[in-house]
Amino acid sequence: MKTQVAIIGAGPSGLLLGQLLTQQGIDNVIIENRSADYVLSRIRAGVLEAGTVDLLRQAGVGARMDREGHPHGGFAFSFDGRLERIDVHALTGKNVMVYGQTEVTRDLMDARTASGATTFYEVQDVQPRDFYTDKPRITFVHAGREITLECEYIAGCDGYHGVARKSVPADAIKTFERVYPFGWLGVLSQTPPVTDELIYANHERGFALCSMRNPTLSRYYVQCTIDDKAENWSDQRFWDELRTRLPADVAADLVTGPTIEKSIAPLRSFVAEPMTFGRLFLVGDAAHIVPPTGAKGLNLAVSDVAVLYQILRGVLLDGRTELVARYSEVCLRRIWKAERFSWWMTSLLHKFSDDPFSQRMQLAELDYYTSSVAGRTTIAENYIGLPIETID
Ligand code: APR
Ligand code: PHB
Repeated sequence: MKTQVAIIGAGPSGLLLGQLLTQQGIDNVIIENRSADYVLSRIRAGVLEAGTVDLLRQAGVGARMDREGHPHGGFAFSFDGRLERIDVHALTGKNVMVYGQTEVTRDLMDARTASGATTFYEVQDVQPRDFYTDKPRITFVHAGREITLECEYIAGCDGYHGVARKSVPADAIKTFERVYPFGWLGVLSQTPPVTDELIYANHERGFALCSMRNPTLSRYYVQCTIDDKAENWSDQRFWDELRTRLPADVAADLVTGPTIEKSIAPLRSFVAEPMTFGRLFLVGDAAHIVPPTGAKGLNLAVSDVAVLYQILRGVLLDGRTELVARYSEVCLRRIWKAERFSWWMTSLLHKFSDDPFSQRMQLAELDYYTSSVAGRTTIAENYIGLPIETID
């Protein structure tokens, strides 16, 4: 079997890249080791940067997002009993869009089905090969049959645990990592969100986040210990802890109910350099992870795709093979800045220790940033999303 671009992974990165390439008439095949239903059952973040929204529209998958998504012009920090709003729209002229990653993925899957492009789900033994030659290929097993997919380029969109990064020779790649000493316990609940906008809370008992999917579906998180288990948290315990970590007037408005989902996620910062190995590109979570504070994970995957799409279009439609060399360098410039913002938000808002000096430093930093126009502006321009470079 032959294609121009072989894509490993049908998460948002792989599906969006496939959609943009298909729109340009560039043939591509996606191979995914899970089922489509399993991919859609993963609950992930739900805040889209303005640039992500633009690219989804450009890819022809923006209609339902524009109908059902919720534009937000700001969010708040709570600390020291205060609630301080960051007016992102006033400071940047743009809104973020609250629309779940699962919904983005569903829209992309529907568009792929409609386009007739090939996707293999539930494949096994995926192995990218010969990507340092001009005849790369991927071997895999589908429905008991061994398949060789010959291609011109391979996009490794297979997430943090995928095979693409692991296939690269150890001496060709350098990784940078920070593992945080706590996790996030998250719940989804069929209750109205406590406020119209997100609240990121710093509290002496630990971080909390009030988020949402729509006016009847809330998403809340509390910082927990790294070795905690979701089973240790009854719904009552979760709601009590969340209420404690919010300012009293907000807590008083919290509507509680049975939770639909409850799980713990670890927090990690991770970057692999470079992101190109011959004719293999790493894209999205395959190349980098951010802690969820700041909602950058999906948005960063989308900006990698925006860059790779422009490069592959130049290479495959106009013969500009020299562009391949730019992918890694262009993406990493933006990735490290998003890593910085996610790490900074994490450092600012979580409880790292009982050290009272560190706690006072966090409060002083929050007070300073939220009361200065310069401080609010730097937060807003990172939250809305730094510019995505155009390849010319
Ligand atoms: N072969 C084929 N597919 C694979 C393999 C493999 N060996 N290993 C993993 N996959 C699939 C996974 O099952 C998953 O569907 O690759 C896909 C990767 O998807 P994501 O993990 O969602 O990563 P990505 O598409 O880069 O999405 C960006 O950023 O912070 C996150 O939550 C955010 O998931 C989002 C991600
Ligand atoms: C979410 O809604 O799940 C969410 C929102 C903002 C974040 C992280 C997660 O920073």
